[in-house]
Amino acid sequence: MNVVAAPWIDLTGRLALVTGAASGIGKAAAEAIAAAGASVVLLDRDEAKVSAAADAIGADGHRASGRVLDVADAAQWRALGAEVAAEHGRLDILVNAAGIARFDRIDAEMTPTYREVFAVNVEGTIHGMATALDVMRPAGRGAIVNIASTAGLKGNPGMASYGASKAAVIHLTRSAARELNLAGLDVRVNAVLPGFVESGMGDQVIDRFSDTMGGRDRMLSAFTSGRPGRPREIADLILFLVSDRASFMSGSAVVIDRAQSA
Ligand SMILES: NC(=O)c1ccc[n+]([C@@H]2O[C@H](COP(=O)([O-])OP(=O)(O)OC[C@H]3O[C@@H](n4cnc5c(N)ncnc54)[C@H](O)[C@@H]3O)[C@@H](O)[C@H]2O)c1
Repeated sequence: MNVVAAPWIDLTGRLALVTGAASGIGKAAAEAIAAAGASVVLLDRDEAKVSAAADAIGADGHRASGRVLDVADAAQWRALGAEVAAEHGRLDILVNAAGIARFDRIDAEMTPTYREVFAVNVEGTIHGMATALDVMRPAGRGAIVNIASTAGLKGNPGMASYGASKAAVIHLTRSAARELNLAGLDVRVNAVLPGFVESGMGDQVIDRFSDTMGGRDRMLSAFTSGRPGRPREIADLILFLVSDRASFMSGSAVVIDRAQSA
């Protein structure tokens, strides 16, 4: 008898939206979710990079398309939600990975920075969840993963607005999860909290802090326990959380940082 083992995670027939999918963690998540069989719409404000990322997934034989979206723009989300509902009549997965980091101090100059950071990291996450829920509600099921950060758990000198925005993402995740569960919906909402990861944002943080912290290596040894994470390592956790394997997980805020904040 030939026994063919079913794949551990199979997303065949599912439709996924991934924001911030032109680079880093969002891109790796889109690749992993598509490789597990889902059809993935990659969303990013960087048009050239998002279509290149979608084309590369397509060239590997998986189903993906790229589309420009500024996550801070509620009208763009509404248009996307209407299109997804009309074309597919369903949505199974949303990964909110788009995010920005800005460097600031607690003083009067902080007002513009925190507004910019909150518009993308917090309002973008709210718009994304609201849009996804409109499409998921009729079927009553779905999975949402919001990318927060370990920066949302402790103080962040020089990055206060970023840390505050990620604390807000953790809280939004927990509240949404409880609210949807109480409403009797099988829509699971979880947050992933990476430590320092190699990516566009990772490079930006290295550029900002390595001089004042005595060079790149010393900075990395202060921010990581040995080495930065790789986007694919974060994507594997995201893949698990959006799959049926995580059917009993909702409202969790999962740290992934190789013991850095343990
Ligand atoms: N790199 C890290 O060390 C780290 C650690 C913890 C959490 N995170 C979080 O992971 C997520 C992904 O970041 P990354 O590290 O992959 O960085 P990245 O800079 O490589 O990728 C972020 C992507 O988001 C896109 N983006 C930014 N603003 C957008 C907007 N308004 N609309 C649409 N797209 C937008 C960018 O164009 C980019 O493609 C972010 O939410 C970030 O805060 C990163």
